Amino acid sequence: MKLFITAALLALLACSFAQGIHINNLNGTLPLDATFDYVVVGSGIGGLVVANRLSSDPNVSVLILEAGKLDDRSEDVTVPEHIGFSYPDRYDWKLETVPQDYLDGSRRAYKQGKVVGGSAVINGLCWTRGSAATFDAWETLGNPGWGWDGLITYFLKSENYSTDVNQSLQDALHIHPVSSAHGTHGPVQVAYPEFFYNQSQSFLDGIRQLGVPIIDELNDGVAAGAAVIPSSISANNQSRQDARTSYWEPVMSRENLQLMTGQTVTRILHDDVLYPNSTWIPGAAVTRITGVEFAANATAERHTVRCSKEVILAAGAIFSPTLLQVSGFGPVDLLRNLTVKSVVDLPGVGRNFQDHPMVQVLYNYTSPTIMTGLQVNNNDTLDRIAREEYIANRTGPWTSPMVNTVAFPALKWVMNSQDLQAFNQEVTMNATGHLPDSYDPTLRAGYSQQLQIILSLLSGNQSGAYELMSTSWGQLTVSNMQPFSRGTVEAVSSSIFDYPKVDPRYCSQHLDCDIISLGIQFNAELVQTPPMAALLPVPDPGFGPYEVENKTALDEEVRRRITTEFHPSGTTAMLPRSKGGVVDPSLRVYGTQNLRVVDAGVMPLIPAAHIQAAVYAVAEKAADIIIMENTVASNASEADRVTRTQATCAPRRRDPGQGLGEQMEVLLHLGRIGRRL
Ligand SMILES: Cc1cc2nc3c(=O)[nH]c(=O)nc-3n(C[C@H](O)[C@H](O)[C@H](O)COP(=O)(O)OP(=O)(O)OC[C@H]3O[C@@H](n4cnc5c(N)ncnc54)[C@H](O)[C@@H]3O)c2cc1C
Ligand SMILES: *[C@@H]1O[C@H](CO)[C@@H](O)[C@H](O)[C@H]1NC(C)=O
Ligand SMILES: *[C@@H]1O[C@H](CO)[C@@H](O)[C@H](O)[C@H]1NC(C)=O
Ligand SMILES: *[C@@H]1O[C@H](CO)[C@@H](O)[C@H](O)[C@H]1NC(C)=O
Ligand SMILES: *[C@@H]1O[C@H](CO)[C@@H](O)[C@H](O)[C@H]1NC(C)=O
Ligand SMILES: *[C@@H]1O[C@H](CO)[C@@H](O)[C@H](O)[C@H]1NC(C)=O
Ligand SMILES: *[C@@H]1O[C@H](CO)[C@@H](O)[C@H](O)[C@H]1NC(C)=O
Ligand SMILES: *[C@@H]1O[C@H](CO)[C@@H](O)[C@H](O)[C@H]1NC(C)=O
Ligand SMILES: *[C@@H]1O[C@H](CO)[C@@H](O)[C@H](O)[C@H]1NC(C)=O
Ligand SMILES: *[C@@H]1O[C@H](CO)[C@@H](O)[C@H](O)[C@H]1NC(C)=O
Ligand SMILES: *[C@@H]1O[C@H](CO)[C@@H](O)[C@H](O)[C@H]1NC(C)=O
Ligand SMILES: *[C@@H]1O[C@H](CO)[C@@H](O)[C@H](O)[C@H]1NC(C)=O
Ligand SMILES: *[C@@H]1O[C@H](CO)[C@@H](O)[C@H](O)[C@H]1NC(C)=O
Repeated sequence: MKLFITAALLALLACSFAQGIHINNLNGTLPLDATFDYVVVGSGIGGLVVANRLSSDPNVSVLILEAGKLDDRSEDVTVPEHIGFSYPDRYDWKLETVPQDYLDGSRRAYKQGKVVGGSAVINGLCWTRGSAATFDAWETLGNPGWGWDGLITYFLKSENYSTDVNQSLQDALHIHPVSSAHGTHGPVQVAYPEFFYNQSQSFLDGIRQLGVPIIDELNDGVAAGAAVIPSSISANNQSRQDARTSYWEPVMSRENLQLMTGQTVTRILHDDVLYPNSTWIPGAAVTRITGVEFAANATAERHTVRCSKEVILAAGAIFSPTLLQVSGFGPVDLLRNLTVKSVVDLPGVGRNFQDHPMVQVLYNYTSPTIMTGLQVNNNDTLDRIAREEYIANRTGPWTSPMVNTVAFPALKWVMNSQDLQAFNQEVTMNATGHLPDSYDPTLRAGYSQQLQIILSLLSGNQSGAYELMSTSWGQLTVSNMQPFSRGTVEAVSSSIFDYPKVDPRYCSQHLDCDIISLGIQFNAELVQTPPMAALLPVPDPGFGPYEVENKTALDEEVRRRITTEFHPSGTTAMLPRSKGGVVDPSLRVYGTQNLRVVDAGVMPLIPAAHIQAAVYAVAEKAADIIIMENTVASNASEADRVTRTQATCAPRRRDPGQGLGEQMEVLLHLGRIGRRL
């Protein structure tokens, strides 16, 4: 009865909050001795999905700590058209890679979101899952339940997909979704723009003439072919949907869910003595995490917050491994250099780093009969008209994102069988020679197994070897989808505020660059097909006929032009410890009792697609696992107080007078009803 009343009152309160409260009014202070059941580090995709699901139980308290702020929902964030033209770099960490020795020796900008919603607030909106075969590979690599069949529920759970395109356009653009492959009740709105440039159709028609099939549905497990893909936008208002809008805003009035912005977690805290008996591996001594330390900036005072159940790292594939390293969880030789005391020796932390290297190629379409997004953006009159239409009706060119017409060619469609054979031979000849010297035998063993899988993915026709992203003004951008190269993310000091060394080591296995070159040679043929030639493409000066004929020149230009496709992953891989893994199939960090990672870093092998949909799905599955295991644990705790994971009530505010006060930018609900109810 008590439960019923509480829930009813909470629901009532949630309603009045939703109507009356502006997000900036969420404000309060954090008691010095605060304890939450779960402390979530980072409010990107992984963090907000997990925080949302865990806090659906009003008895469970959750605190999210985020280094960035709430974005201002300006047009450069929300309007699909702005992608590629105006980038909200005020929400970017502004990282760089180290000089890329295997390219041209220079650094690359490495964008990552520093904002509530994480990289989803600055991303390109492309909504793709990748192939079932890649996720099945995750399972094969030692992760029961993480194959396509184990994940599809969560792909569906996270999305609300609508085909808001009229029938004639659906037919013209081959948008014929398999409805059973989509969710229609999930938090992330996924839809199509209200406006398509005709060049989408030219691209599909042209590429089909070269033997790349158009597929009606790219997100049902077969992800090779050409297609118009959906975007993470809302069908109704045609604006960006991200982790903030989908997983935070609907539940932000929950009294048991707190978000603190402008606070960077500096260290993971733990007991000094080992916990004698892991709940999960009986008899194994493990480290018990007690909370985290955080601060507003490098010179600000450090604060701590404790967890009674778990700490969940969701700082993304760059900062989660860095935070582990500065906290004593990582490769022991690196930790020694950092003068960080080793807590758990985990050679895989910050290794197995994978990303999609990308080259933007422009074939400027000069036909006077077409309209392009670039023209709209560059012409004040056109842009003003488009803006007015967008504001008034949510239609027109401003609804159209930079990229939604793409192809994922299988290798066998673009390479003859003789070359394919030679390619396979070259891969296997010196299979691990290109790995960094710092990789230990476990990482090498893990990589060898991945390599066999990559070769089999590349020899099939379910998964793309590269991606071709087409824009209305003539970009045919080529990204390698299944790279052999592996990099490193390493802290440079014991302070999280010193930016880590981000080294993707692009093309350290040179075949990764060869695949991109192959894509560019294919482009040269594509633009000569009649549907594409009609657009009067003018080749990119860097990739003219000379480069396309001369492999050396082409290779040099590719290496000058490679940047990131912004898909860092694999740096806290879910793999057996003997294969260089960092987390187990419950996403728990090896050697710990109650520390998990839930972000793109846990992917053992990068999907051959844009990865946000997979991060949402991974996090949804993680939430189910965490809830299930803690339910088991608290049931067990009734019987066995020795092994229990403390179950406590939500949130304790013993001394609200002694808060951290006004000097912190604190976004925190001050629960006025609290437990006193
Ligand atoms: C420019 C760009 C374009 C992209 N385009 C696409 C696309 O079109 N389609 C697609 O599918 N994917 C795209 N992606 C990738 C996708 O957005 C990411 O893969 C996804 O957001 C990763 O989720 P995550 O939870 O791992 O990390 P993130 O979403 O990056 O969240 C990590 C959060 O942790 C916070 N944080 C970090 N360190 C700390 C700390 N010490 N203390 C507190 N907080 C911390 C960060 O500020 C951030 O908010 C793009 C990414 C970028 C950067
Ligand atoms: C937050 O609280 C502080 C201290 O009570 C107050 O000075 C400040 O104006 C509040 N900020 C907002 C956005 O409500
Ligand atoms: C919340 O906690 C109370 C008191 O411990 C308990 O009676 C109730 O069943 C719990 N509710 C849920 C939803 O777990
Ligand atoms: C479908 O949409 C397109 C583009 O907006 C428009 O030109 C066409 O007339 C529409 N067709 C129908 C049947 O509504
Ligand atoms: C799903 O999207 C449709 C618009 O296509 C909308 O009407 C509906 O309310 C959405 N459902 C949820 C659960 O968000
Ligand atoms: C460890 O935990 C398991 C499972 O709860 C229990 O059976 C076992 O007796 C415990 N061992 C010790 C040494 O406490
Ligand atoms: C660091 O944070 C403190 C406390 O919030 C603040 O007073 C100070 O101005 C900040 N310093 C910088 C350099 O931002
Ligand atoms: C540690 O430092 C030494 C000496 O500078 C260096 O040779 C070694 O590569 C470093 N190891 C790691 C893992 O960073
Ligand atoms: C593309 O072509 C148009 C028309 O010829 C020209 O004005 C423009 O400068 C070209 N743009 C680029 C980037 O080459
Ligand atoms: C902008 O577009 C309008 C409408 O198509 C056109 O009349 C005008 O010449 C364009 N301006 C420029 C500078 O290209
Ligand atoms: C909005 O749509 C209506 C109905 O189609 C149209 O009459 C009006 O001109 C549009 N508004 C703008 C600003 O484009
Ligand atoms: C294997 O590759 C590495 C790095 O490219 C190279 O240094 C090494 O000499 C190669 N080994 C053999 C046997 O070819
Ligand atoms: C190919 O390009 C390379 C590098 O630009 C150059 O050194 C070489 O002479 C070129 N070969 C031919 C046949 O043009």
